[in-house]
Formats: sequence, structure tokens, C-alpha cells
Amino acid sequence: MSCCNQCAGLERLFDERLAQNELRDYHRHGPAPTTRMLLYALKTHRLNGLSLLDIGGGIGAIQHDLLQAGVEQATQVDASQAYLRVARSEAERLNHGERARFQHGDFVALAPQIEAADIVTLDRVVCCYPDVEALISRSAEHTRRYYGLVFPRDYALLRVIRPVFNLYFRIRRNPYRFFVHPTTAIDSILEGQGLRRIFRQTTRFWQVIVYERG
Ligand SMILES: C[S@@+](CC[C@H](N)C(=O)[O-])C[C@H]1O[C@@H](n2cnc3c(N)ncnc32)[C@H](O)[C@@H]1O
Repeated sequence: MSCCNQCAGLERLFDERLAQNELRDYHRHGPAPTTRMLLYALKTHRLNGLSLLDIGGGIGAIQHDLLQAGVEQATQVDASQAYLRVARSEAERLNHGERARFQHGDFVALAPQIEAADIVTLDRVVCCYPDVEALISRSAEHTRRYYGLVFPRDYALLRVIRPVFNLYFRIRRNPYRFFVHPTTAIDSILEGQGLRRIFRQTTRFWQVIVYERG
């Protein structure tokens, strides 16, 4: 499957209605549990004055939290215009709009134009992208210090369920597909780029991993 098709599917799936529903949930309950785990792991380090690049940040839960926790400047790159609109207006409502930048498109294609950052995060994004090698290696190249990932555990049951998820999207005529990429492949790309694992926590479905450079 081409990334172009997948990006068209992302735009359709992550639309205005879903973005507004997620914003409502976020106002009621705060970030999703796995996002909270990732934020907790990052905030055990000194973040004052650091920069953040949040790839596929959705409504911006990570940047809203980290900008309040001392991060100086945040950039969100997202394939969904609806999510970016919501993330931007929430950043303005929280009075940190002037420290937040937003860019629409496929990060893998945009990578040469995007500045590196001290912290790079991909929260539930890896499962939305077919070319894991390109997404992980280009995002890792943009990381100066910490690299945070939330992605599905690659256990056998999930591999069995995956075609059922994707059948649903096929029936809805949405080119979006869900992916379960092998953890070992992701690990070896990151280790090959000089990043080492410093945190891992799991839920039934997800794993939250933080790497550090050097
Ligand atoms: C499941 S949502 C997760 C949103 C948010 N990070 C969260 O955990 O709530 C996946 C997000 O990744 C974005 N995305 C997926 N692949 C992307 C890519 N290659 N470049 C930019 N954004 C991407 C989608 O548009 C969507 O906003």
C-alpha cells in the first residue's frame, strides 16, 4: 500500500467529528492512559528549555502538557487537518499558542524540511503507517535527546485480529489500514541510530517506550 493512500485514509478517519469528540474526552479525563505513561516517563527528566517534535500528535495532548512542564517550543506534524485545527485552538486557549507550530502532511515526506528537536514523540502513530523503516529512521534522525513511542504490542492475537480491523475499513471504503510492526525491527533501527531504551511499560494492547541518545 502506498503512503499517499494511507494519508488520504488518515484524513478521512481523523476528521472534525472525531477530533471534537477527543477534545471533549480530553477536557473531561485528561490525556489517554498510555499518553499519561509516556508523559510521566519523559517528565522524570529535566525538560526545561527543551524543544519537542510531536509527530501525529492528534489534538496535541503531549505538547499541551509538556509546554506547561517547561518545554520551550513544540512542533506538531500531522496528516489530519482536523486534528491540527483542534490542537492549534487548544494551544491558543491554553495561552501557549505562540510557542507551538503546526505543519500538515506526511512526516516521512516532510522530514527534510522539519527541524530536529530535543524530544521526539510518536504516540499511537506507528500503527497508522505502512513504511515503518522510513517513519522510525527519519523521526529518530530528528531526535537530539529523548524519543518516545506508544505502539501496539506485536503478540500473535493482535496479528490475527488485524485483518478484521482492516476489513472494517475496506467495507467503509476508507484506504486507511492498521499495522502491527515488529518491536524487534523498531528496536534495531533505533539502536542502530545510537538510541538506547530507558523506559518500557505495557498495557494489554499497547507498549510505551522511551529511548535516550547516547
Ligand atoms: C491514532 S492517532 C493518535 C493521535 C495522538 N497521538 C494520540 O495518541 O491521541 C494517529 C495520528 O497520527 C497521524 N499520523 C499518522 N501517520 C502520520 C504521518 N506519517 N505523518 C504525520 N502524521 C501521521 C494521524 O493523522 C493521527 O493524527
